[in-house]
Amino acid sequence: MTGKRITIFDTTLRDGEQAPGASLYPHEKIRIAKQLERLGVDVIEPGFPISSPGEFAAVQQISRMVSEAEISGFARAMKEDVDSAIRATADAPRRRLHLFVSSSQIHLDFQLRKTQQEVLSMAREMVAYAKQFVDKIEFSPMDATRTGDEFLFEMVEAVIAEGATIINLPDTVGYALPEEYGAMFEKVRRFVRGGDKVAYSAHCHNDLGLAVANSLAAIQHGATQVEVTINGIGERTGNCSLEEIVMAIATREGALGVQTGVHKEHIYETSRLVSRMMNFPLAHNKPIVGRNAFQHESGIHQDGLLKNRNTYEIMDPANMGIPRSMIVLGKHSGRHALKHRIRQYGADLAEAQLDDVYSEFKALADASKHVSDEALLHLLDDTVDGFIS
Ligand code: KIV
Ligand code: ZN
Repeated sequence: MTGKRITIFDTTLRDGEQAPGASLYPHEKIRIAKQLERLGVDVIEPGFPISSPGEFAAVQQISRMVSEAEISGFARAMKEDVDSAIRATADAPRRRLHLFVSSSQIHLDFQLRKTQQEVLSMAREMVAYAKQFVDKIEFSPMDATRTGDEFLFEMVEAVIAEGATIINLPDTVGYALPEEYGAMFEKVRRFVRGGDKVAYSAHCHNDLGLAVANSLAAIQHGATQVEVTINGIGERTGNCSLEEIVMAIATREGALGVQTGVHKEHIYETSRLVSRMMNFPLAHNKPIVGRNAFQHESGIHQDGLLKNRNTYEIMDPANMGIPRSMIVLGKHSGRHALKHRIRQYGADLAEAQLDDVYSEFKALADASKHVSDEALLHLLDDTVDGFIS
């Protein structure tokens, strides 16, 4: 593998935890942080230290415990926030400070009630202030995708001049289209003074279901970091999902020309852990980790899979640590799939016996939508002489 390495910045414990109902106790945050490190993410954003004493303590403990991943301290462009994030992450072997302030006119008018010059000064002053404590400073102009080019460029140029080293361009409300989002990176890199000296990061929300596509567009236009969450959890419809973008990069590496350092075999267990701890069930059709992601009910698909799994699967679930149970028996299943499942139970039926079982099976499938393994075993008990489950 020779593709450029993309930094995976995981914000499950900060932006992800902002999902309604997903709050974690400090000990749960610590458990998830350990798992994220095992998964091989490059950066962990463990929380928002100023938000509560418990949050501060969790960020501090995670900073002391994590040895492989870099820790990101999160702060608004305000001195109290910066001080808190700097103290909470002081013991991390490697850390950065992630500073943000809104840049779009709608946020300035209605949320911050400040002028462009005022927020520009806040951004400048806080980057300069933070620079005394940490070298690596990531700066996010919040709502970048709804900010006019002129002011966006001015803000990015100002923070680079003060020492910001990573520019994150958030699509805070999930509004951008992939082409627009990619073009924004291109323009900032090209037109901002100093824009060629910093690294770029994508931070996408999923309101239009475009978070992964937008993050990939950013990568194609020079971003070397993507901000993601496990299961795509986060505010409203969530953030770019780690498992989806990592597997898109791995599956289409030839087309994208990049790679990540994520240990894919831990994807499924991490997804289950986060879903459980955050009380956040996954949609059955969620890519990669949803219940149906590698299950097949249509007889035609089942037949193809039994001959060669690549006929209807583009990834091997075992690579993500997903227990394989690819065939769901139901009214769309064919004789071949039924025979295969019966063989898995150690029975090799004669064709005439299989005919009987098949017609009973179809009647059962019509009546009950799915035929569980247990129901199938009962059916075999009743239909095949001498079959004992
Ligand atoms: O969505 C967003 O804009 C954010 C930033 C503060 C990085 O989460
Ligand atoms: Zn966000």
